[in-house]
Amino acid sequence: MQSVIIFASGGGSNAAAIIQYFRGQSNVRVAMIVSNNPNAGVLDIAKREEIPFLIVDRKAFSESLFLEQLATAEPALLILAGFLWKIPESLVKAYPGKIINIHPALLPGYGGKGMYGIHVHKAVLEARERESGITIHYVNERYDDGATVLQAHCPVMSDDTPQVLAARVLKLEHYFYPRTIGFLLEQIAG
Ligand code: GRF
Repeated sequence: MQSVIIFASGGGSNAAAIIQYFRGQSNVRVAMIVSNNPNAGVLDIAKREEIPFLIVDRKAFSESLFLEQLATAEPALLILAGFLWKIPESLVKAYPGKIINIHPALLPGYGGKGMYGIHVHKAVLEARERESGITIHYVNERYDDGATVLQAHCPVMSDDTPQVLAARVLKLEHYFYPRTIGFLLEQIAG
């Protein structure tokens, strides 16, 4: 049995897609959900799915108690899915090569501080890009900087609004994130 922990700050549609994908697989379980936002929609998903959750504040996030709480799940992977805080060095060091993130654009373009949610898609449209997509990457101490695991592309249409483009990119996320996680878990299991 392999456990994963999902970190999310918002609605949690990626978390829902991941939970749904692994529901039928007895060898993988979403053991915990971590959020920095007590009002995040992802916590409703956690309650509905009866998955234990942790709400962290900035102080607790870097403390050893938090690391101990995570360790109880013995996670094979920590999965960031719309988690807006920078991951502290203590966490990167505790889980080297085991933390992944999804970004709703083709990094290294349109990444870095402040590039999240609709801001990303606005910037892509303002630059008149002809394609966008997703980047699934390992997490290190810097924003959107770790090695790429997978990119998937989609076209940008000339009449796209940021919301329309966001919805197209989100479909890629929901399809590819769970499958990429499954692939990585298989590699980890050997
Ligand atoms: C996604 O677009 C993801 O790429 C980004 O934040 C968004 C999270 O959406 N990092 P949701 O909370 O999973 O619906």
